[in-house]
Amino acid sequence: MKFFGKPRSQTAAFLPLCLLFLKSLSLGHSNLYSNRYAGDKVIRLTPNTEEEAFVLKKICHQLKVDLWQPGGVSQISQGTVTDVHIPHNGSRALLTFLQEANIQYKILIEDLQKVLEKGSSLPAWRSRRSLSGYNYEVYHSLEEIQNWMHHLNKTHSGLIHMFSIGKSYEGRSLYVLKLGRRSRAYKRAVWMDCGIHAREWIGPAFCQWFVKEALLTYRSDPTMRKTLNHLYFYIMPVFNVDGYHFSWTNDRFWRKTRSRNSRFRCRGVDANRNWRVKWCDEGASMHPCDDTYCGPFPESEPEVKAVANFLRKHRKHITAYLSFHAYAQMLLYPYSYKYATIPNFSCVESAAYKAVNALRSVHGVQYRYGPASSTLYVSSGSSMDWAYKNGIPYTFAFELRDTGHFGFLLPETLIKPTCTETMLAVKNITMHLLKKCP
Ligand SMILES: *[C@@H]1O[C@H](CO)[C@@H](O)[C@H](O)[C@H]1NC(C)=O
Ligand SMILES: *[C@@H]1O[C@H](CO)[C@@H](O)[C@H](O)[C@H]1NC(C)=O
Ligand SMILES: *[C@@H]1O[C@H](CO)[C@@H](O)[C@H](O)[C@H]1NC(C)=O
Ligand SMILES: *[C@@H]1O[C@H](CO)[C@@H](O)[C@H](O)[C@H]1NC(C)=O
Ligand SMILES: [Zn+2]
Repeated sequence: MKFFGKPRSQTAAFLPLCLLFLKSLSLGHSNLYSNRYAGDKVIRLTPNTEEEAFVLKKICHQLKVDLWQPGGVSQISQGTVTDVHIPHNGSRALLTFLQEANIQYKILIEDLQKVLEKGSSLPAWRSRRSLSGYNYEVYHSLEEIQNWMHHLNKTHSGLIHMFSIGKSYEGRSLYVLKLGRRSRAYKRAVWMDCGIHAREWIGPAFCQWFVKEALLTYRSDPTMRKTLNHLYFYIMPVFNVDGYHFSWTNDRFWRKTRSRNSRFRCRGVDANRNWRVKWCDEGASMHPCDDTYCGPFPESEPEVKAVANFLRKHRKHITAYLSFHAYAQMLLYPYSYKYATIPNFSCVESAAYKAVNALRSVHGVQYRYGPASSTLYVSSGSSMDWAYKNGIPYTFAFELRDTGHFGFLLPETLIKPTCTETMLAVKNITMHLLKKCP
């Protein structure tokens, strides 16, 4: 199998995963994730009328499709593109239905298992390390990311301090890096989190990239030096640690946390619908089996509670909240839960406009920007709205590459261009913070 290749510098950290795959081999399933995606398709749906949207919602619910453009089945609406992942046993029914109802669709991925196994988007066992000691152009497991954090905490103690803000549902530490030159003077801070949604692997890869770039260019780049001298960054590379781990070991398309429910067998809560801001209203589901399940009560998830507590405690000096998701190529700001313009809209809007232009200047990639409600869809209980409502004036959510060609399976070869351009956008936003906005 190509996937295994020749692990040249495999460390002990990979052994448990390795054994897991070997175990599935010996059971006769020769494929990744126990071959569970064989024959599954990803289909892009574009309902042209309200009636088409209505029947699509119904059949998608019946066939239990997994919505790739998140938001849940309720987000399917006229004129909106929706990508769905349909299990192999439901794909015939869905395709027949679409043809008979004459609804526009496009098959984006014929066989999901084959795409997973092509290796382009796989955890690369080949060369985990680059010349400088760490390969930032592959996706890393949770264990690797945590080891990397511990390593930086030891080797870059002048600029980095690592600490834990609590424990996940399954008992894993919730680590945060505080990045910036230590000083006794009052400093403003930027919060950044990646990986609220488990399957959006490019997020954690970007958080790692950001830290790497900051450390590498601190001495040579005056802008970076100024930024790290005047601001602290609190960076949480993997927010949803349990879900991220699960997306490596069991289900590549897992989105939620891993908490149990007392009445249903379905596990997990959407950690971006669990915040106390218009909690469980439009764009969130009350059903534990849905991907946008808001949870039994606000901050029910220990991961959400830990971050909310931290932000509450430090909100006086945190000026910006940045959250990294995928995919859609958008830069979003509040509100998510309603169609309305925020106070001081012009400062936030102009920061977004400049950031998107800076991003495009690198590889010509276009991002849309605007209030999340009108640019993406309405969703309640999101971290971005919550941060804004709690007094953080600049709050943004990035939806990174791409627009659906690879979707969540963004190949590792695209980590570098994606992170390079995003880096420029984030730097642009943070420079904006250092200036006064009327
Ligand atoms: C497809 O298979 C799963 C179990 O593997 C089952 O739960 C589901 O109901 C099946 N769907 C259809 C449409 O047959
Ligand atoms: C990071 O390093 C400091 C010492 O420089 C240590 O006190 C702290 O416990 C370390 N953080 C973690 C999470 O190990
Ligand atoms: C931010 O991006 C704009 C282009 O959109 C550019 O004119 C400006 O110089 C950038 N600012 C910084 C500090 O990078
Ligand atoms: C809007 O900007 C003014 C002046 O900078 C500031 O005092 C006020 O707190 C801001 N309001 C919000 C909601 O951010
Ligand atoms: Zn997301």
